[in-house]
Amino acid sequence: MDFKKYVIDNIAELTGLECSVVEKSTETPPDEKMGDLAFPCFPLAKIMRKAPNMIAAELAEKFPLGDMLSKVEAASGYLNFFFDRAAFSSDIISKISETGKDWGSSDEGSGKMILVEYSSPNIAKPFHIGHLFSTAVGNSLARIYKHLGYDVQSLNHLGDWGTQFGKLISAYKRWGNKEVIEKNPINELLKIYVKFHEEAEKDPSLNDEARGYFKKLEDGDPETTELWKYFRDISLVEFNRVYDMLGVKFDSYNGEAFYSDKMDEVVDILHEKGLLVESDGAQVVDLSDENMPPCIILKSDGATIYATRDIAAALYRHRTYNFYKNIYVVGTPQSLHFRQIFSVMRRAGWEWSKGCEHVNFGLVKLPGKHLSTRHGDVVFLEDVLNESIEKTRAIIESSSPNMEDIDEKAKKIGIGAILYTFLKNSREKDIIFSWESMLDFEGESAPYCQYSYARGRSILRRADGIDYSNADMSLAASDEEYSLVKQLNAFGNAVSTAAEKNEPFCINRYVTNLAKAFNKFYNTHPIMKDDVDIETKKARLAIVNATCTVIKSALYLLGIETVESM
Ligand code: ARG
Repeated sequence: MDFKKYVIDNIAELTGLECSVVEKSTETPPDEKMGDLAFPCFPLAKIMRKAPNMIAAELAEKFPLGDMLSKVEAASGYLNFFFDRAAFSSDIISKISETGKDWGSSDEGSGKMILVEYSSPNIAKPFHIGHLFSTAVGNSLARIYKHLGYDVQSLNHLGDWGTQFGKLISAYKRWGNKEVIEKNPINELLKIYVKFHEEAEKDPSLNDEARGYFKKLEDGDPETTELWKYFRDISLVEFNRVYDMLGVKFDSYNGEAFYSDKMDEVVDILHEKGLLVESDGAQVVDLSDENMPPCIILKSDGATIYATRDIAAALYRHRTYNFYKNIYVVGTPQSLHFRQIFSVMRRAGWEWSKGCEHVNFGLVKLPGKHLSTRHGDVVFLEDVLNESIEKTRAIIESSSPNMEDIDEKAKKIGIGAILYTFLKNSREKDIIFSWESMLDFEGESAPYCQYSYARGRSILRRADGIDYSNADMSLAASDEEYSLVKQLNAFGNAVSTAAEKNEPFCINRYVTNLAKAFNKFYNTHPIMKDDVDIETKKARLAIVNATCTVIKSALYLLGIETVESM
């Protein structure tokens, strides 16, 4: 059944307007009391030479209610349509039970490839909170696009190339101790890297040494390559520990190094197209007509840089995946970089580069802590995740000391709480981390949504044996029940809006409101109480079941897991 289509077709029939025209002006009224759909009659006034009020009144009278409508009302120039609540609820509830976790999905993306590049930490450096932000947003977007039928590849563009590796190799040769490093790789590598900077300040010749090592690395010298590979491998072991905790998986870890032998071609193409100009010995693309500083392609010493590797990566991705969209989930501070490389690609005449998009996000502030790698006093992300898990555990233990599987639950809830926080507001906003609101089981938080789900599941467990698959939904047609069903129906819209704007927070807000509506429903409508008759029980259980399905799917799209009881 398609309630909206029924309304639109009949308006078109009665007025002689095209369906597409009617569809455009049909609205959802601002207040639920005004019905489920509204059609403004003002534009008809000119054609029909009548006051909108009168047109609305006439149409209301003629309108066929059929099985789908309970009432059509004329009010101040609008036609307000009220769906038959029981018919609408039965329809939505049975569709949700048929589609299950695929509810809200579509095939809009069928045959189209979307690349989502996210996380992209730098090897031998801590995985910091900004990378976690990128991971949360990117993982969610990848899931959202999959839900809409796109082919999705998750790419981790590791920062594993650049002159800093010359410094690290030099530092390792001077002060590295394999045994100590093995115990705590990134921490130790960071320590010797910081030490290198301190020593190089006193003795600048160290910088020449480091440059020499990077040159060797670029030339494929076996010993330096071996070391570089070692740093990369031990870093990935640590990163993968974090990804495992978060339930995040990548299809590719091709980092900057992967493109180091693919840059000559880019330089040649840009050169051939006459885009390169010399500036202080470097080769750059002049972008002054767009009020941007030049994009440096080759440094004066001939070394290539970040931007060139990114351009080579985009070309490689185009050839390998023939993408529809290539999304970069990277912090706002790199906006200029992306505007520059996108402009260079446009100037090179690469039509496909229109599909490249920088999906930026704000800063994360951990009150009272520093986040810079230069000083060595960084916050390690794993510590933040573990702290959240510990705090969650303490909260659960104090309220229900005998809970089963407490470790697993603390992990799902503690990590969910962090992911939720990143996806709570539009991504460009800065985030200030606060344990209180993150772990507020009653506020707008992951635990609140997870608790609503668990609550629903526990009701369903108590109803074991009751078959509510063909419930009479006219017995669950109160305002709270109907409004909840309408929200279940709106999931698909939330998913498409989230994709359209690359904003997972649309789903975050959706699931939070859904959990709120669910709480309101079961607080006002007892379900398993003895004095509720069995048919009413069934109708309410059907709503509980559908709500659980949708909360779980929505949380999944945010990367957040559910627990069956808490
Ligand atoms: N590794 C970089 C950093 O940590 C982020 C890489 C972003 N992606 C890209 N294609 N440039 O800042």
